[in-house]
Amino acid sequence: MSFLDISNLSQTYGDKEVLKNVNLGISKGEFIALVGMSGGGKSTLLRLIAGLEKPTGGSITFNGQQLSGLNQQARVMFQDDRLLPWKTVLGNLLLTTDDLDKAKRLLARVGLEDYADAYPATLSGGQRQRAALARALISSPKLLLLDEPLGALDALTRSKMQELILQVCKEEGITTVLVTHDVREATIMANKIWVIKNHGIAAEMVNDFRDQYDDQAQLAKDKIVHDTLEIILGEDDAAA
Ligand SMILES: Nc1ncnc2c1ncn2[C@@H]1O[C@H](COP(=O)(O)OP(=O)(O)OP(=O)(O)O)[C@@H](O)[C@H]1O
Ligand SMILES: [Mg+2]
Repeated sequence: MSFLDISNLSQTYGDKEVLKNVNLGISKGEFIALVGMSGGGKSTLLRLIAGLEKPTGGSITFNGQQLSGLNQQARVMFQDDRLLPWKTVLGNLLLTTDDLDKAKRLLARVGLEDYADAYPATLSGGQRQRAALARALISSPKLLLLDEPLGALDALTRSKMQELILQVCKEEGITTVLVTHDVREATIMANKIWVIKNHGIAAEMVNDFRDQYDDQAQLAKDKIVHDTLEIILGEDDAAA
């Protein structure tokens, strides 16, 4: 059994079938990227793994336990930072813990040690996402679920955030699922890329080159990007 086991998972809203009989396994410490067309069900799958919604069929087993209700060992980061505007950065981190030392350590880890007393409205978009990352990490989650958290950032800030998230997840051994529209970002961050299409996982692309940056690795990543885009943009039964 995998660390996270998804078995025959289906989700239907009214008569709209979004996911059908999805089967997946994630090992501990893996970094998975979920890509696919808009409306394909990426966020839905992430919400189901987080336990924010109940599936209409199938089951999810996490760390040996079948999920029912909120997945307590998971934290989600969304495109908008969802920081509480009336709390300082430090206050946002201390919502679910009173471990001040840990909060300060995490703020330093994401480069916000000088912003503990700042309010979210006074921060840049990248700083707010770093605060949201620190808040997601304060409960030492086993699973980090990222729903396009970098989508609104400029290219340079985004690249720095990619690096930071990757480093932290490796250091802490956190298993991660990242939803992204950016297939190149997926090859930078993930060791596996799943393509969601036609209500399920249409392909799994293994990226053995994630941590390599020489010319050969770059070529291999370019090929993964090309092949993944071909699958995403290829004929789609769902659109028929
Ligand atoms: N609560 C809901 N009620 C009804 N339909 C829903 C609900 N949540 C999602 N859907 C539908 O399910 C489908 C998949 O939505 P989802 O948000 O998972 O797509 P996505 O792949 O994350 O898309 P995007 O890339 O645009 O974020 C869409 O057609 C959406 O309208
Ligand atoms: Mg989405």
